[in-house]
Amino acid sequence: MEAIRASGADEILALCGGCLSCATCHVYIDPAFQNRLPPISDDESALLDTSTHRNEHSRLSCQIVLTSDLDGLGATVAPEG
Ligand code: FES
Repeated sequence: MEAIRASGADEILALCGGCLSCATCHVYIDPAFQNRLPPISDDESALLDTSTHRNEHSRLSCQIVLTSDLDGLGATVAPEG
């Protein structure tokens, strides 16, 4: 989430600042990286369930810690709602 904000993309709201309470940092992860991410937590999954736009590539970007393994990671900001 912070990397997306730092890139200048303004379509990500991230209203809670990464506290896992808003789901406005919802992104779709590039499928090539799907298996490199840490498993989704129950709390993250429950919050994603509040989105009508959740799909199999959905993650909350504030829950993804960028490491060298994720170099080149692509993500698309999901629509609101
Ligand atoms: S910024 Fe609110 S859940 Fe990610």
